Amino acid sequence: MSNDVLRIGLVGVGGVCDAVHYPGFSRIPGVEIAGICEPSDALRAARKAEWGIDACYAELGEMLAEVKPDAVAIATPNVYHRELILQALEAGCHVMCEKPLGMDYAETRLIYEAAKGSGLRHMTAFTYRFVPALNYIRHLVHSGELGQIRHARFQRLQDWGERSIGWRQYKDQAGSGELGDMGIHRIDFAEDLLGPIVSLCASSKQLVPRDLTPDDDSCRPQDVEDWIAWIVDFAGGTTGVFEMGKLSKGFGPEGDHDQAELNGTEGSVVYRLHAPHEILFGRRGAPYEVRPVPEEFLKRAHSPRDPNEGEPVRTFRYDQAWEFVSAIREGRDCRPSFYHGMRAQAVADAILQAAEERRWVDVPEVSA
Ligand SMILES: NC(=O)c1ccc[n+]([C@@H]2O[C@H](COP(=O)([O-])OP(=O)(O)OC[C@H]3O[C@@H](n4cnc5c(N)ncnc54)[C@H](O)[C@@H]3O)[C@@H](O)[C@H]2O)c1
Repeated sequence: MSNDVLRIGLVGVGGVCDAVHYPGFSRIPGVEIAGICEPSDALRAARKAEWGIDACYAELGEMLAEVKPDAVAIATPNVYHRELILQALEAGCHVMCEKPLGMDYAETRLIYEAAKGSGLRHMTAFTYRFVPALNYIRHLVHSGELGQIRHARFQRLQDWGERSIGWRQYKDQAGSGELGDMGIHRIDFAEDLLGPIVSLCASSKQLVPRDLTPDDDSCRPQDVEDWIAWIVDFAGGTTGVFEMGKLSKGFGPEGDHDQAELNGTEGSVVYRLHAPHEILFGRRGAPYEVRPVPEEFLKRAHSPRDPNEGEPVRTFRYDQAWEFVSAIREGRDCRPSFYHGMRAQAVADAILQAAEERRWVDVPEVSA
């Protein structure tokens, strides 16, 4: 493992960069946040002052040329991911990029091939892989304690209100709506727990126009789904039922519902995001009981994060930066890599097709 300082550039310093990437990288010894790239003059100036970073640029090309970072973390609206990833790889940078990696499967395939060909490290920011409860459930599935998983359900229900939610509500900027925003995480962690999804059926709805901004100005109506559900067959025989929606009254603003439940032949488990340090565990004939997540699953190995520091529902996310940095230092693939971003997108494209055509669709093979 190299002890050299690893210099990171942050690209797009809006919501998720502030909440996850900046705090994640800034607590890792031997990592320097060497520059930021952000086209909004006001936000760039605010981050410069707040984070004390002098090297601030409006364009990635300038940052790459002047700062020469070892790696970048890209957190822009989805439509820009492809061009920024290709530019960073071209400059020899390892790349972590937010989900969804691209606008559709064809684009994520192109991104993956470019990253694979570069020999550099690549990572998709599937944050939920780092939830302690899901780490522990992965162990319980693989250890056989739950037996054969017969069926499972995955739900993300939130109340974002009925006004505009910005770039996320347009197909030409986001690729899809609730599916690419919340659904793609659940596709990824469901496959991480249960193996590949092979076929599915789906239904989606656009329930409201979102043609008013939060300040009462009118804006272009949304053209993506704000509710979506799908049923899948996993290759291993498990059936999965998924539902996501941003218009679920009763679940806001802090009470959003993120839950997964696996029912096996020997036992069942429940993950709930708001209680990331515990699971519910139940055996036949007995009600669910709370089981604390054992110490070894509370964080990634050797992560500098203290699992008891701050709000656990937020701080587990910092382990994502640790995984990226560790993979670079150890010269190994990131987990999850761009391959996983591409796999999840193949499933997402099949979901959109199934919803549109109102039928079951097979997920195509996704070669590495
Ligand atoms: N992994 C997660 O849990 C999670 C959570 C939230 C968002 N996201 C993803 O992160 C990405 C960003 O989401 P957000 O909520 O932070 O959005 P945001 O709108 O808050 O921030 C995006 C920022 O990118 C900047 N930007 C636009 N074009 C750019 C360019 N060419 N170069 C550099 N910066 C540019 C914008 O000015 C803005 O400040 C999206 O892909 C989203 O899906 C992931």
